[in-house]
Amino acid sequence: MNKLYNKYEKEIQGILGRYPDEQKRSAVMPLLFLAQRDTGYVPTEALSDIAEIAGISETDVASIMGFYTLFHAEPAGRFRIQICTDLPCALRGSESYLEQICEILGVKEGETTADGLFTVEAVKCLAACHRAPMFQLQGDGEIKYYENQSVEITMQIVEEIRRKVATEKEA
Ligand code: FES
Repeated sequence: MNKLYNKYEKEIQGILGRYPDEQKRSAVMPLLFLAQRDTGYVPTEALSDIAEIAGISETDVASIMGFYTLFHAEPAGRFRIQICTDLPCALRGSESYLEQICEILGVKEGETTADGLFTVEAVKCLAACHRAPMFQLQGDGEIKYYENQSVEITMQIVEEIRRKVATEKEA
């Protein structure tokens, strides 16, 4: 039984409709995105579902998923703060920036804040090397880039998100 297909039949048909039958493997990325949409990560069992729908091996699906920072194998906070620590960013201070952000938020890299809102992750190049320190924020179905960061500016962004979430809860 293909649980993913049963859950999202209409959307999956729409995704597959964008590709010729012999190229349905190209649907892997949108299928991964769909599998991740509700929970913020791709559950292991979804890999075989996606492999079956796209007509490729589960290993291929897993390797595509592993390549992109967009996809996640584990649950995390509502927002992922993904800080690039690759070499060009490291030369512009991203490692110390990451350490300070983690310290202020009271987490280690890869961990989630006590309120469940933020997971801080170190990632590879996000193509903003000349504007480091930088991070990509993933959450609520959106991806945003924040470049030329300082710890102070990032913490203002974090506090702004916390205020927004608190306002949502009150509403
Ligand atoms: S090395 Fe960090 S964005 Fe490219």
